[in-house]
Amino acid sequence: MEKMVIEGGNPLRGNIRISGAKNAALPIMASCLLLKGTSRIQGIPELTDVKTLCEILINLGVKTERCKDHTLEITVQDDSNVTAPYELVRTMRASICVLGPLLGRRGAAKVSIPGGCSIGPRPIDLHIKGIKALGAEVEMKDGYVIATGKRLKGTTVYLGGVAGSSVLGTCNILMAAVLGEGRTIITNAACEPEVQDLANFLNKTGAKITGIGEKTMIIDGVDELHGTEYTIIPDRIEAGTLMIAGAVTGGRVVLQNIIPGHLTSVIDKLVEIGIDIQTRTISKGNSPGKNVYECIVESNGHFNPVNITALPYPGVPTDMQAQFTALLSIAKGVSSITEKVFPHRFVHVAELNRMGANIRNDDAVSIINGVPSLSGTTVMASDLRASASLVIAGLVAKGVTEIRRLYHIDRGYEKIEERLTSLGAKMWRERE
Ligand code: UD1
Repeated sequence: MEKMVIEGGNPLRGNIRISGAKNAALPIMASCLLLKGTSRIQGIPELTDVKTLCEILINLGVKTERCKDHTLEITVQDDSNVTAPYELVRTMRASICVLGPLLGRRGAAKVSIPGGCSIGPRPIDLHIKGIKALGAEVEMKDGYVIATGKRLKGTTVYLGGVAGSSVLGTCNILMAAVLGEGRTIITNAACEPEVQDLANFLNKTGAKITGIGEKTMIIDGVDELHGTEYTIIPDRIEAGTLMIAGAVTGGRVVLQNIIPGHLTSVIDKLVEIGIDIQTRTISKGNSPGKNVYECIVESNGHFNPVNITALPYPGVPTDMQAQFTALLSIAKGVSSITEKVFPHRFVHVAELNRMGANIRNDDAVSIINGVPSLSGTTVMASDLRASASLVIAGLVAKGVTEIRRLYHIDRGYEKIEERLTSLGAKMWRERE
């Protein structure tokens, strides 16, 4: 196993290009199960989660071909298999996103039920509720969800759970319904940019989806969908993470390939914390959505305390909660972060405290008493975004930080040490 070693205290400076969004790439890749012909998708990040989904798709009779420049070609060759086995699904809970397209196109799906993880329980009741409403017969047996339904029938589905809507739940129902009969209305749909990206992709393949980015989505079923060319949106979570990494070191970082509109709540909080963020339009497209932007992030290394609540989009994303915690651990005063999406997602707190932070949890709230500085030590990554918070802490800590269980970070951040090193960070991988 590998560990990351970081020598803290080096301000980050320079330009960095944001990768394509992992959480858009995964459902879009899965949705290719619905298509006839080849799709050519650009902006696919090089991540272990992407590799895992490729393995699942290959096992389902799909040819996936990595071309240069982050392009992936996907073609269904054999649609006889409908099983996503435990051995492949267990490493990535997002594998559940093959459920909807398998059912929608092949009339059956047998997908291993994802277990819980360090961010808390990961129920799939909303996914099941949605496909049942569309007419599928569903059975939970031997750790698998087994669904059948020859041609699903459009209906109205309310996708509200205890924590609000579900991102992958919405994606799954969308993918199950596009080849269904008649009109499906998803109310309380997730509005995340990644869900929008999936819907935009599917429309390019011939689907009829309206209400994209709204709480009510309407899907009119069509008979066939075809391969297309598409570019994945930039990763707003990677962008937010790099904004904080640049700021925490008192540096100046220019982020390229970014959609600032996807980061409004994050930028708003960073400005309140005292970080200077300027957005520049680099070139204008034929609509505001086609403009090319860059963001310049600059900080003097002094941070104000703030109160943050992690919420579904357009609120501050839960996937940025741990990174904000690392930053606020050296703010001047007391901050709080309330987690409304995954109320158990606080495993990073104990590790940050080992680095000298002063954070305590009260139910789903972190109370962060800012300290003057953090100090490097050996810490354990426990999930993807917790690892990112430890990298941020390591970049600003005094001395050397070693992060164990590094594989988590490779699930969601492409070549992170190479890219941060190019900005002036001192960090490298070693064998544990
Ligand atoms: C996706 C993202 C993940 C992000 C999360 C919330 C991907 C691959 N992953 O995960 O990075 O942190 O959205 O923005 O896109 N819930 C239920 N029943 C369900 C499904 C979910 O109660 O059937 C609950 C969850 O426990 C959680 C909340 O709903 O409390 C949101 O989860 P959800 O949006 O489904 O997360 P994912 O789609 O799995």
